[in-house]
Amino acid sequence: MLRGELPPIAATLNKVLKRDARRHIRPGLFVFGMSNHSTGTIPGQPVLPAAHTWALELEGAFEVLARVRALEQTGRDIASLAIGEPDFDTPSHIVEAAVRALRARDTRYAPPAGIPVLRDAIAASLRDRGVVVTPEQVVVTPGAKAALCCVILCAFEPGDEVLVPDPGFPAYRSLVRFAGGIAVAYGLDAAADFAPDPEELARRITPRTRGLILNAPHNPTGGSIAPELLCRIAEIAAQHDLLVLSDEVYGRLVYDPGLPVAPSIAAIPEVARQTVLIDSFSKTYAMTGWRLGFAVLPPALAERVTALAVNAYSCVPPFVQCAGVAALTGPQDCVGDLVTTLRRRRGLLLGALGDVAGVICPAPAGAFYLYADVRGVLARTNLTTEALAARLLEEDGVATIPGTAFGDRGAGYLRLSFAGADHELARGAHRIRAFAGRIGAYPEDHS
Ligand SMILES: Cc1ncc(COP(=O)(O)O)c(C=O)c1O
Repeated sequence: MLRGELPPIAATLNKVLKRDARRHIRPGLFVFGMSNHSTGTIPGQPVLPAAHTWALELEGAFEVLARVRALEQTGRDIASLAIGEPDFDTPSHIVEAAVRALRARDTRYAPPAGIPVLRDAIAASLRDRGVVVTPEQVVVTPGAKAALCCVILCAFEPGDEVLVPDPGFPAYRSLVRFAGGIAVAYGLDAAADFAPDPEELARRITPRTRGLILNAPHNPTGGSIAPELLCRIAEIAAQHDLLVLSDEVYGRLVYDPGLPVAPSIAAIPEVARQTVLIDSFSKTYAMTGWRLGFAVLPPALAERVTALAVNAYSCVPPFVQCAGVAALTGPQDCVGDLVTTLRRRRGLLLGALGDVAGVICPAPAGAFYLYADVRGVLARTNLTTEALAARLLEEDGVATIPGTAFGDRGAGYLRLSFAGADHELARGAHRIRAFAGRIGAYPEDHS
């Protein structure tokens, strides 16, 4: 439902855009409404992007990966602990389903919200989290990122405040700002196993707060949210009428043997009607390049998100959706095998880094990242977190992501992925150990 009339929204948007444009303004940048020109271009000048696009951030992980590729092209041997995807191949029965669909020439436009058989399978698959939804609430998207983008653009208005985790997946704050909203960070600390603190959430809520983004298991910390805590957070969300966006892309990558899937806030009746669940096939089924994800939404929002899909990309390719049906309805041993392998790799990397001076790695409950506290290494040098990650890469050939790529509270931390092959993890850990042994010995480290 719209919360305001169109003209006031447009006026606020204009104000926010101009304010942000002033903040980000660069020499030569043309900003609508801030010049005497009545069109978006100036004769003879290059065409420049609209002011509001400066709210969009790039993603640290993709920037590091580009640098890794550039170094590898020069012949450098890089051990990557940066990659956010399992080294597994997509299981054969999933690939075969797509091939069969292609052979049957299932290559035309599909319904914008997804093919009915996939929407049915998604709704049915969520019952193992205790989430009861109708297929009409499901919108299939090109990956969880497209779901996040469409939902955030459709759910929030300029000036809305949305609580986002810090550290957290960078797209949250970037998209909230792109929508004209205000991303209000809430902290995740090692002392609380990187779970949100309900008191802090309550403290950060103002009359303008409209949304709360949760992500568990969490990127980059691997933290989870225990069921009792989830209930407490649900209470707060219900009390303040917040739209909850629950990003559950790592929901089935959990390491407690008694827990096949992380608990979902969408299963809590008090907030089910105001919760959007976002998930993806990328991590669970090793399908990062297929671009297949989904959102499960309150009906009115599902309708608008579908309208945005129609405008933005029409549909997800039907043969990709057929692969998704095979993933959900076929044998699930591939997920069990993935979790078993990841659990072993988690142990391998934790073991290899356990006694490195100045590095503390808590064991993550889910996802495939160690969130390494490297403040002990930084304390022996004058390096920033980014400079430490850069030197690890350039000098010792090990790629990591600086915690600051996930928010200000990431200072002093590195994200280390254990989704890669065993030998990659062993080499990466060995190089971190070598670096930590050496660091502080150079005069320039203390300059
Ligand atoms: C927390 C989180 N949400 C969403 C995504 C995006 O997933 P997808 O590949 O489905 O777009 C990622 C990818 O790294 C992620 O870590």
